[in-house]
Amino acid sequence: MLRKIFGGSKKQPIDIDDIDKEKLPRHVAVIMDGNGRWAKGQGLLRTAGHAAGVKTLKRILRLADDIGIEALTVYAFSTENWKRPKEEVDFLLSLFSEYLAKELAEMHEKKVRIKFIGDRTGFSEKLQNEMANAEELMKNNGGILFTIAANYGGRDEILRAAKLLAKDTDANIDSLTEADFEKYLDTFGAPPVDLVIRTSGEMRLSNFLLWQAAYAEFWYTNTPWPDFSEREFIEAIKEFAARNRRFGGV
Ligand code: FPP
Repeated sequence: MLRKIFGGSKKQPIDIDDIDKEKLPRHVAVIMDGNGRWAKGQGLLRTAGHAAGVKTLKRILRLADDIGIEALTVYAFSTENWKRPKEEVDFLLSLFSEYLAKELAEMHEKKVRIKFIGDRTGFSEKLQNEMANAEELMKNNGGILFTIAANYGGRDEILRAAKLLAKDTDANIDSLTEADFEKYLDTFGAPPVDLVIRTSGEMRLSNFLLWQAAYAEFWYTNTPWPDFSEREFIEAIKEFAARNRRFGGV
């Protein structure tokens, strides 16, 4: 499909058909950072940054789907984000509900398969139900796997997996493989993360997908998430395609 994209600083159209489909990352994970700084720079409240961030997310999900990426995972709320002011936490949680209410039908029509990872028992029963209903509705869709990490921490996920394993009386601990252990992780069934993108200049993993991103390539930009463009996403994909991945070999 020919899709011309205008965006970023160069304002020239770019064509997604010239992306080498053989070298696409199967799974892209995004740390959507910089909403607060973006809002401050605009003289707005931090919450306005998160609302603007949702718009970027919609654009990037659509593009990732158009390009043919198999899985996109975004870090929406970490286990550490509860430390933020209550108004900001409440706003973020209400954004999740609003997003599901407004976007579900279109995503479903596009065959998106939504999934939430993280400890959802930390959320209200209402939000937990909304998440479960969205997953149930889309569970048989064959399009992009769109995972939202909410109340997510990589260490927390691994610890919860270890607890599930300890309670699994069928598990044979002595012969347990990495592939067996993955069955207890929230992301079970998703391809390994190939590419982690982080916006807004930081170069940290911040407890995101610690197990899954073990061999991921890292790409970052100084652009804050609300300004992150389709052009930059494609730049990241093309740079990924040009990297030499050795997975510990030579
Ligand atoms: C980091 O920016 C961003 C977050 C903690 C939240 C990201 C959430 C969204 C983009 C909304 C997602 C919504 C849905 C529906 C999935 P920051 O606030 O830490 O920015 P700062 O580092 O500039 O303060």
